[in-house]
Amino acid sequence: AGEGDPAILNLPPWSTSLGQPVAANPYGMPSKYERGLQRRESPGLTRVGGSSVAFTPLQGLFGIITPSGLHFERHHQGWHDVDPSKHRLMINGLVKTNAVFTMDDIMRLPSVSRIHFIECGANTGMEWGNVAVPTVQYSHGMISCSEFTGVPLKEILDMCGADYKKGRFVLAEGADGSSMTRTIPMELIESGEVLVAYGMNGEMLRPENGYPLRLVVPGVQGVSWVKWLRRIEVGDKPWATKDEAVHYVDLMPDGLHRQYTSIQECKSVITTPSGGQLLLDKGFYNISGMAWSGRGKVTRVDVSTDGGINWRQARLETPVLSKAVTRFNIDWVWDGKPAILQSRAADETGYVQPSYGQLRKVRGTKSIYHNNAIQSWKVVESGEVSNVQVL
Ligand code: MTE
Repeated sequence: AGEGDPAILNLPPWSTSLGQPVAANPYGMPSKYERGLQRRESPGLTRVGGSSVAFTPLQGLFGIITPSGLHFERHHQGWHDVDPSKHRLMINGLVKTNAVFTMDDIMRLPSVSRIHFIECGANTGMEWGNVAVPTVQYSHGMISCSEFTGVPLKEILDMCGADYKKGRFVLAEGADGSSMTRTIPMELIESGEVLVAYGMNGEMLRPENGYPLRLVVPGVQGVSWVKWLRRIEVGDKPWATKDEAVHYVDLMPDGLHRQYTSIQECKSVITTPSGGQLLLDKGFYNISGMAWSGRGKVTRVDVSTDGGINWRQARLETPVLSKAVTRFNIDWVWDGKPAILQSRAADETGYVQPSYGQLRKVRGTKSIYHNNAIQSWKVVESGEVSNVQVL
């Protein structure tokens, strides 16, 4: 111990030599020491040009914004780097004037920038019946939160003279081979929240996330955020397309399916400490996590370290934005004994995130979509953290 720490006593090379020149990486990349933090496919899911998913490494992120290179990916037919000069957006249906917009046309229009989360309806979908995956990346990593820039769809529909009386729905269609088509109720568009977006986190969308144009539908499950958006049709009833009649329906305990359950209800998860991590020693830890609601702002997050017997209110870090991720933190002194960490969020409608017991009473265990149950992480004496379920 008397020797001292060489890392503080000896000058490292970076203190005694010239560094690399500016713009050595014209488009900056993370440190090579952060290489482990990557989007990953879940064990058992394959990397194919068809239906595939890669999860955001929530365990390694801070604050509320997901770096664009770590935004989760969900493709029904792979992704393409679409040439923006060849991309078009067509508006048709119950409008006075059908129109075709180029990207240049769209980018001349008045724009807005807004921070919102996007969560796949199937996020946490493997955990309906039992614990299935080891880490928060796989259990909850189909959520990301970004600043999106684009034009409110309402503005574009106004330009085309949409018939808002008869036309109570729109159909959004993507340009990829999956025929991704989703019905969006006109109320959402009239609220001004739905964007035809080209920007994400201050730059153009990444190809995997729909470059050059995607729909942003705040609060609604990811499938409606149609990527490579090429057509909007105004109509008088829902279309019941394959992705709303066969997929993205909720199987209920009585065997019937629920359709058009699009809003992502209030949910939260502790991201550190979380499954697969190791606590080094007893003592102080900052418990940190994310909370969100498709119905507005998160108003409160409570945290339990004893499996739901006692709850303490966590600090909500600013900004707390509507239909965006809110970061929460709370102090914890670990006594070295087994513990179960949980977070429970509430939103401005008064809705409180359910336990697995409460959720399964209504929804059963056979569903895929819209699992927003309270997540539990078990800490054992060795400091290992693992995924468990508490009713
Ligand atoms: N849009 C098109 N055109 N094709 C797709 O496969 N996937 C949808 C949606 N929009 C998809 C799409 C699904 S299921 C989700 S969850 C989100 O995009 C995922 O968006 P991301 O890949 O940017 O995370």
